[in-house]
Amino acid sequence: MNSASAVQTIGILTSGGDAPGMNAAIRAVARTAWARGINVKGIYRGYKGLLDQDIFEMHHTFTRNIITNGGTALYTARCLEFKELEYQKKAADILKDQGIDGLVVIGGDGSFRGAQALARQGINTVALPGTIDLDIACTEYTIGFDTAVNTAMQAIDKIRDTASSHDRCSIIEVMGRDAGFIALWCGIACGAEDILIPERFDGNRPKLVYNLIEGINDKKKSTKKHHMIINAEGIGHSYGMAKDIEAATGVETRATILGYMQRGGSPTAKDRVYATYMGSLAVDLLAAGATNRVVGYRNGQFVDDDIEEALSMPRKDIDEYELEMAKMLGRR
Ligand code: ADP
Ligand code: F6P
Repeated sequence: MNSASAVQTIGILTSGGDAPGMNAAIRAVARTAWARGINVKGIYRGYKGLLDQDIFEMHHTFTRNIITNGGTALYTARCLEFKELEYQKKAADILKDQGIDGLVVIGGDGSFRGAQALARQGINTVALPGTIDLDIACTEYTIGFDTAVNTAMQAIDKIRDTASSHDRCSIIEVMGRDAGFIALWCGIACGAEDILIPERFDGNRPKLVYNLIEGINDKKKSTKKHHMIINAEGIGHSYGMAKDIEAATGVETRATILGYMQRGGSPTAKDRVYATYMGSLAVDLLAAGATNRVVGYRNGQFVDDDIEEALSMPRKDIDEYELEMAKMLGRR
């Protein structure tokens, strides 16, 4: 028991889509708490596990050998009823019964709203940004993005080997339902000719495909035959586009959807280190009496914001210069 700390028992949960680096954050939260004389309880499967009271006293052994693993050792889930006040009140009562007076939530925007709801019910909460999509307004870094991009990049490099051997066009679909950050980074890192992102898609698929066909036909005059298109999941339809391109250009075209392999795997050093820093900071914020905060990374520094303010920040946009640069370099 640490009488200097504003909280005596910290609970940890992971919520929404898992992301590589979440385990590093869990480990850092737990070990920092223990170093400060604070108890730690783990909550399995996000808000669902909280409502099911799937809660355990965390021991040191739980945090051993997890920093290298993808996924989340606490498991994760989505829990739609948690949007309702009745269930938020029930969850706060469960936390109080368990003696949990501080909570660290690792997840995306949706999970932050849950943390905010619990803060309103008197539980001190700090959230950490965990999503491979990077689409959180208050932070330039999210846990898992770096690993996901590196995983996708390695897969795309392999596809390039076979596509260029056959002078083929390849469309590779990467994750990002609403955000094109993974696609943009993979496109630049892999030297793609075209990068398709939801932020710049007006919904007109025939026009999009027409432009791709124009680019490929132009390329026929050059010595470089293969053509790589990175398509974000938010635009989708990669198989259909491949058929249309092949029919219109005569260039053999293959589509690959990378899918969930991008969300797994051992985290990169960056994800381990940043997630660790964020996990420690979350505990020190709670120990200092903070609540309803979200940790972020901006302008080279770890920062924390009020969740309400963080959620009302304008949606993060793709850097236009980066996108134009990628297009210009890919077409040469
Ligand atoms: P992410 O956290 O990755 O954005 P979701 O949007 O699926 O993922 O949210 C994860 C979980 O957070 C939801 O299943 C739900 O339990 C909780 N949540 C989402 N939105 C809210 C909300 N408005 N109020 C309370 N809890 C929410
Ligand atoms: O983790 C982010 C994300 O991968 C999105 O890019 C994707 O659309 C979504 O999660 C899919 O997750 P699920 O199938 O688990 O809902």
